[in-house]
Amino acid sequence: MSMEVSLFDPLSASEADFAEHYEVMKAVMGLDYPEQSLPTLEAYVTQMRRHESASKPRDRWVAREDGHIIGSAYAVYPELENRHLATVRVIVTPTRRRQGIGTAMLRAILPALRDHGRTVVVGEGVKADASGDLWARKLAFARTHAWVRQILTLPEVAPGLWQRPVPDGFRLQRWTGGAPEELLEQYARGRTAILDAPIGDSAMEFAKWTPERVRAHEADLEARNIENRVVVAVHESSGRVVGITELQLFALQPDWAYQGDTAVAVDFRGHGLGLAIKGAMLRWLSAERPAITAILTQTAHDNAHMIRINHALGFTTTATTAELEAEIAAVAKQLGSR
Ligand SMILES: CC(C)(COP(=O)(O)OP(=O)(O)OC[C@H]1O[C@@H](n2cnc3c(N)ncnc32)[C@H](O)[C@@H]1OP(=O)(O)O)[C@@H](O)C(=O)NCCC(=O)NCCS
Repeated sequence: MSMEVSLFDPLSASEADFAEHYEVMKAVMGLDYPEQSLPTLEAYVTQMRRHESASKPRDRWVAREDGHIIGSAYAVYPELENRHLATVRVIVTPTRRRQGIGTAMLRAILPALRDHGRTVVVGEGVKADASGDLWARKLAFARTHAWVRQILTLPEVAPGLWQRPVPDGFRLQRWTGGAPEELLEQYARGRTAILDAPIGDSAMEFAKWTPERVRAHEADLEARNIENRVVVAVHESSGRVVGITELQLFALQPDWAYQGDTAVAVDFRGHGLGLAIKGAMLRWLSAERPAITAILTQTAHDNAHMIRINHALGFTTTATTAELEAEIAAVAKQLGSR
């Protein structure tokens, strides 16, 4: 039997290839993250064919045996911050593991990472202490950070948990899509409050938010057909945006949402603003989108405040994930390749 690794182009891939690609993803996710809702095959194909994030181009590969897909990989090349690194994900269908296929894929993709001028490779969202974590650590990767995945199963939670008071002196404001022009500058500043979230030993830099960056992010989400909902807390006497939370909805997966960044400015922490903005987001969402049954979020494992807030709102912690990082040169050396 012959195994080969080749580029995978969603724009020219056949239906049969997509069906196999999808089955591999489903089997891998079912093993590591059985609680996660997955797209249908049709949604998966559409998502992969669609315009990708302009600031994060990517390459994709597949491993085939006798023509059939048994593994896949992608590499993302951030263009704004983190231009020295590529984030990768390599997966092998569970029935074909420990046969060198994952390693062969990694070896095959390293030259592309270098051709993009990258010197560091990062694996994100790898289930801690499971196959990917153990595999990567054999290959010169070090664990630089850990995250918890938390899921809110809406039908199982009493909505009363989301009734959280807005502290005196603040008001909440919300929008879908673009931030109102009069709040834009303040909103960009409010977003930078995420900058002191714990990052462990990670070399990943957070985005540097400016009004232009906010508009580019909004346009990027719109181009990818992702609905972005935002709730902010405004400090009434100063007009400052001191708390922000954003949540993303995917037309192709109507039962599921992703809770993205939440941040409260350092001098306004401890007043219940985090609970107030996230609670308001959940009330808004459940009122307008009753079809959504689950929300996923990820938080640094040592961000005790955020984790506590999420638990108070009904999220449960389902897994710990690792961020793994290595110099490409060190991995290449370990693999005996260039
Ligand atoms: C990680 C993954 C891609 C590895 O694929 P694979 O083809 O099974 O890996 P390889 O056969 O190349 O493994 C090479 C070596 O890594 C180590 N390794 C791999 N899986 C391991 C495991 N479950 N436990 C301990 N060591 C492991 C072993 O040293 C192995 O060599 P050996 O089998 O001779 O002992 C696969 O397990 C997977 O799809 N996991 C889920 C997705 C994931 O976490 N991906 C990593 C994200 S970047």
